[in-house]
Amino acid sequence: MTQNTEEFINHLLAQMTPAEMIGQLTQFSAGPETSPDLLRQGQIGSLFNASGALTGQGQSKSSNAATANYFQNLALEARLKIPLIFGRDVIHGYRTVFPIPLAQAASFNPELAGQAASIAASEASADGIKWTFAPMIDIARDARWGRVAEGSGEDPCLGADMAAALVRGFQGDSYSAPDKIVACAKHYVGYGASEGGRDYDGGEISEPTLRDVYMPPYQAAVSAGTGTLMSAFIDLNGVPATANRRLLTDVLRSEWGFDGFVVSDWDSVGELIHHGVAEDEAHAAIQALRAGVEMDMVSGVYHKTLASSLQNGKISLGEIEEAARRVLRIKHRAGLFTQPFTDPDRAALTLLTDKSRQLARKFARDCMVLLKNEHKLLPLSRFRRILVAGNFVHATSELFGTWTPDGRAEDVTPLEEALRQVAPNNVELWFADQPDLALILAQQVDAVVLVLGEHPWRSGENANVSQLELPPGQAELVAAMSTLGKPLTLVVFAGRPLAITRQVAQADAVLYAWHPGIEGGAALGEILFGLGSPSGRLPISFPRATGQVPIYYNQKNSGRPITPDGEFRTRYVDLPTAPLFPFGYGLAYTQFEYSNLKLSAETLRGSLQISADVTNTGPRPGTELAQLYVRDLVGSLTRPIRELKGYQHLHLQPGETRTVKFTLREEQLAFTRADGTRGVEPGQFHVWVAPDSQRGLRAEFWL
Ligand code: NOJ
Repeated sequence: MTQNTEEFINHLLAQMTPAEMIGQLTQFSAGPETSPDLLRQGQIGSLFNASGALTGQGQSKSSNAATANYFQNLALEARLKIPLIFGRDVIHGYRTVFPIPLAQAASFNPELAGQAASIAASEASADGIKWTFAPMIDIARDARWGRVAEGSGEDPCLGADMAAALVRGFQGDSYSAPDKIVACAKHYVGYGASEGGRDYDGGEISEPTLRDVYMPPYQAAVSAGTGTLMSAFIDLNGVPATANRRLLTDVLRSEWGFDGFVVSDWDSVGELIHHGVAEDEAHAAIQALRAGVEMDMVSGVYHKTLASSLQNGKISLGEIEEAARRVLRIKHRAGLFTQPFTDPDRAALTLLTDKSRQLARKFARDCMVLLKNEHKLLPLSRFRRILVAGNFVHATSELFGTWTPDGRAEDVTPLEEALRQVAPNNVELWFADQPDLALILAQQVDAVVLVLGEHPWRSGENANVSQLELPPGQAELVAAMSTLGKPLTLVVFAGRPLAITRQVAQADAVLYAWHPGIEGGAALGEILFGLGSPSGRLPISFPRATGQVPIYYNQKNSGRPITPDGEFRTRYVDLPTAPLFPFGYGLAYTQFEYSNLKLSAETLRGSLQISADVTNTGPRPGTELAQLYVRDLVGSLTRPIRELKGYQHLHLQPGETRTVKFTLREEQLAFTRADGTRGVEPGQFHVWVAPDSQRGLRAEFWL
């Protein structure tokens, strides 16, 4: 197959003019502005979306097979009949909207994420989309950054697992299958480190941190076979990611063996001029292409300038040809040369099936994180009359979260109705979206549930905030409600960790629902009324206040480690240093106890078996996430105080004990040293089997 692909491309390239090769490096938007002539001349390699509302071919801004086929027909009129590849942002579902990626990470269940991606691939491909700009796998340590919603949180181990699972979910065994699509791991690399949480701003990351924290998800995506990557907007350490030859070529291709192609982010080739590293468009194009960006997403700069740069000798034909080769390779692997068209009948059978809704509901349930449950307030089984109040009471598409161009509000059962459908018959539910009315009605009920949080537009690309507290007005409602003495549950819908310190103190129970997607209402009802139990765990640390960010569990110890009362120690004078809730934290409707931590040896030789017993000591069945952490006590560079190395779910009946077993391999202890080499260093290590990143049973071993 590989051989065939390479032979096929060689044969094709031998016939191509430079203009046709540059065409393969050019992506434009599909729409009225898409020139049929350029398509017929083979000067466009990819269209962004397969929608063309104003071309008369499509009815809406959504992609659809008819529009894709219309454009494809034009492209196939070109001399060499090279098919287009249609790309779109299929981020956390297509018509079936799944929980936002950060929520998906809270499930600590990459397999489930892979299943959701597979459904998204099937739906999107039915509408002519063969390439998604996902997964977004940027590590994020600063919740002010709006795009924290789009990734898997702060941890490289979980992030790498999610990245690999998502790539496999979108692509399957072969993305030539009609219901699979090409993945695009983005935004390579370090994009999450933009200063101050300001999207598009620059950042500085040391080489060891870049390698050990920000890169593992990318390396995992490449190992999982991602066909493409997207370069980031960020200026990293003074080099814009779109012009970074060391990272795009030396690391990505030479070290990791990536043989697919890299697409720029939207206009980011042209933006090299604003960054101040390119004099003009021609210069920008040369830098990006030479760095290893094969496709220019919509800036038009390759299209406009590469031919003349070739003529005046500023770029070689070999460089252009090598880039075209990579694009053609992925198109060939995607089966586009043999199957360029989309079956127009597939969408009706594929989009939003009962099965995909069921998965969306299960996923939404498994993502929600119970943060507090005083006096076992939840599930709400003992109350007859319950008031549900807050700005999410009537939510439909507000449950989607960021990046859902293909989700439709009319597909969503409004939160209010979904809760009514799920609530036991003997429960009377009242609803109020107005705070003043809510406070009056609250006096007449047995319990209150406040459904509050962020509108999806406050989350995602460029939706950065300077304050992590609840949006305006909501804290006041929680505070006022808490004075009434009614059992109070707070449900937070959000795309990021919010600093809800005061509200956690005021409410009796707190459930973090993120933006849970199309089935979020029913999923919430199932948890609230005990038909399902919460099992999500935090994939990112929750700060007490905005001033604590960046905050992450795998920090360094410092020369003056944090102690509770430490003067002249790492601290704030006005706030504890510990997060409100640590990475890995989450409660269930029952309790778990850890005991009997055992290691197969005192010294790790190749690998080590680690086991512990976990017992459900509470009254209900429940799912615990046992987490494996290590600490390298002495290294040639300072080492994190803990690093996640594994995790396993245990579903336990009341009173049941199970032994959880982990294998820790030597290479999991490797890290990047100051001189750039990577390896393990002998010495003593701590190991924990733990319910979260701050607690757990601890033992020692040697390497
Ligand atoms: C810009 C965003 O950074 C990227 O994630 C997205 O895929 C592109 N726009 C295309 O919409």
